[in-house]
Order: sequence, then C-alpha cells, then structure tokens
Amino acid sequence: MSPAEGEPPVTKPVLLLTRKLPQAVEARAARDYDARLNTEDAPWSRDGAEIARRAAGAAGILCAAGDPMNAATFAALPDSVRIVATFSVGTDHIDLAAAKARGIVVTNTPDVLSFATAEIAMTLMLMAARRAGEGERMVRARAWTGWTPTQLMGTTLEGKALGIAGFGRIGRELAKMARGFGMPIHYRNRTRLPADLEMGATYHDNDASFLGAIDVLSMHMPGGEATRKWLNADRLGMLKPGAIVVNTGRGTSVDDAALVAALQSGRVGAAGLDVYDGEPRVFEGYFGLENVALLPHLGSATVETRDAMGFRALENLDAVLRAGREPPHRVA
Ligand code: DGY
Repeated sequence: MSPAEGEPPVTKPVLLLTRKLPQAVEARAARDYDARLNTEDAPWSRDGAEIARRAAGAAGILCAAGDPMNAATFAALPDSVRIVATFSVGTDHIDLAAAKARGIVVTNTPDVLSFATAEIAMTLMLMAARRAGEGERMVRARAWTGWTPTQLMGTTLEGKALGIAGFGRIGRELAKMARGFGMPIHYRNRTRLPADLEMGATYHDNDASFLGAIDVLSMHMPGGEATRKWLNADRLGMLKPGAIVVNTGRGTSVDDAALVAALQSGRVGAAGLDVYDGEPRVFEGYFGLENVALLPHLGSATVETRDAMGFRALENLDAVLRAGREPPHRVA
C-alpha cells in the first residue's frame, strides 16, 4: 500500500541475504524489506569482511550454514545490524558469544528440517547396508555383466539395532522411520528423555554400552568443540565388528582418519556421510573406498523444507525488525 498523500514514505528495514535462497523466500524478503539479494550466490558469502562491508546500513542479516559468522565478522559488522537470522538449525558457524557481546540477536530454523534430514539418514543407512553406491557406480560405468546369485550382497536393516547419537527432533524422526523396518532403537543423549518422546527407545548413559549394543550408528550431533572428533578410534573400537556408521549431523564430530582405517580393515562394515569437516573439502581417504556412500550435505534439501526454513528465518526477522518483539527461535 502506498502512503496517503502528505504522509512520509514508509521505509523498509534493509536486509542483507548472504546466499541465494528459494524464489518464494526471496520474493517475500523483497516484499517486506529493502532486500540486498545475492543473485550470484558468489563466494563472497564465505568472506566475513565482505559480509560486514555489504551489511553497511542493514538492520538484519539472513545468513546460512557455512557462512563465517565468527568473532572477526561480528566485530566488523556495522552498528545498524540488530539481528542475524540463520537459514539453518545448526549454529556452529556462528560465534554466539561474539553476537551477544555486540547485542545482536541470533535465531535459527528448528523443526522444519527434521523429517527431510531423517530421510537422508535413512537413505544413507540403506545405501550403506545394501551397497547401493557400489551398484550405481557399476551400472553407470557400464561394468555390469548381469545378475548373479552372489553379486553385491549387502545386509538387511530389518531387525538390526539402530543407535541414535543425539536424540533431538531429527533423531526422533529417524527413530519413527526405522521402527517401520523393525529396528529396535537405542539412544545416547546428554539427558534421558521423557517416556512420550522415548517411545520405547533404550537410553544409554555411557558410550561403551551404547556402541556395543547396536548394529547401525546414526549421528545427529551438533558441531562445535564439545563434539569434535567424538567418533574416534576408541569409540569405533566399541562398535560391533562390521557395524554401519551414518552421519548427517556435523562432519567435525568424526575423526576421518580413524573412520577410514576402520572401513579399510572391515572393523566398520560400511558408512554413509552427508557432512564433512571443512566442507566442501572431503577427507581424501574416503574417495578410494567402495564401502562408503558420500552425499553433498543434502539433509534439508527439499523444496518444501528449504521454503519452510526461509519463511522461519523471515518470521524471526519480522519479529525483531517489523513487530519489535521477541523472535520465536532465538539462540542468542
Ligand atoms: C542445518 O540446518 O544446520 C543444515 O545442516 C543445513 O541444511
């Protein structure tokens, strides 16, 4: 609506979007804000100084996983910035303490990506158990010479014990799916959950009993120092021989050299990874292994989920910048 005659023009808050976002999300951002879009999705988004420079006069920043929202970036942000809304549930790319020190609100996008990410964990579990990556590569290389009774025999997931490390929203969605495969669920979490959230899953209060009880490990841990290289040689040694390992949480929680060694020796039967330490770099050792399925951080990559993540980020921005109230998904 244009302002009535004589009234001052309504100025929209300036919003910097560090990445190219789904069309519907950018359209809404452009409707409600003076939106500075990143039409190229160019590498400046990985350069904190450039983000700070482009944020001149902006009231909000809509950033994404992988953006370097570290202490140096926060120190360089102009005083105009009141909120950083990340288009992700993970916040390991954001220095929350530095944001707090500058009095900048930080929000994330929980819930809306839980099912999609659990789907990718299930996909990787199936790819690893049923050797789907190997099969796909064989057909694509025109190396398949026909069906044989012993070709690419994998292992079934039916009845296998699934261990979920990090029993948050995504882990619990995966548990629901895995129950359809008749998989008993075990979980490791900072705290035990109430019975209505456990839904019959077995809680373990230590790594040895958890890792020793399961056939498939699915990791859903947040990144950061507390979980750095959690899956190391010691913990890999606690798994049953031939266990399957899947990670859709953060790559930093795996000791890659130790996992590669376990995959080479057969101590771990197969693995499926969607996330990597130092993305988009992938630990070199994985490339030579047939028994690992590698996906490019697809967890939340559905049209429905990416739209919902964008709208959730905008709800948070709207709360702070347009309604002057507490945002629904504040993390700092
Ligand atoms: C998140 O939201 O943290 C994901 O890793 C990005 O899809």
